[in-house]
Amino acid sequence: MYTKEKTIREGLKKIANTVTIVTCQNGDKRDATTVAWITKVSNDPPLIMASISPKRFIHNLIAEAKEFNVAILGEESEKMALFCGTKSGYNVDKLREFNIKTLKSSLNSSPTIKNALVSLECKLINSFEVGDHTAFIGEIVASSILKEGNQLIITDKLCTLDY
Ligand SMILES: Cc1cc2nc3c(=O)[nH]c(=O)nc-3n(C[C@H](O)[C@H](O)[C@H](O)COP(=O)(O)O)c2cc1C
Repeated sequence: MYTKEKTIREGLKKIANTVTIVTCQNGDKRDATTVAWITKVSNDPPLIMASISPKRFIHNLIAEAKEFNVAILGEESEKMALFCGTKSGYNVDKLREFNIKTLKSSLNSSPTIKNALVSLECKLINSFEVGDHTAFIGEIVASSILKEGNQLIITDKLCTLDY
């Protein structure tokens, strides 16, 4: 017999989240953080929502820079997702440490991850507290298809910290 909390956790695991890396550049500070709680929320204008804990280094970068990019990863990028989802920008420049190749983005300053399937450049248009996370709403101002492939979906192996 599961406890109520365990039943909620097991139920939520059935939501098949795509694993992304959110990047942000704010002046001379930058970060790349694994984010699985991300979804489309509007077609016109094209809006997405990324739910990010205030504990993350990237949280205040996004709040201040008012922009972020979303790299949708391919299934081969599990190691990069684990690295960017377990190390923190408080201690390390993850892009340099993991040797993640980047490209200049077309409309904003945040890095585009070269090895992703897709990169979405977002302008922050709204943010609000949702329980213990902040919902960042981004308008997609530019998008690049970088390569073909299947996207990385959250698995038990990647499922750390209840994501
Ligand atoms: C697969 C996976 C998915 C994650 N999804 C999220 C998420 O949606 N929101 C979030 O705040 N943290 C998420 N995390 C945790 C952060 O990526 C992790 O705490 C990271 O080290 C924070 O880095 P930062 O301090 O440089 O921002 C996830 C971690 C993993 C491994």
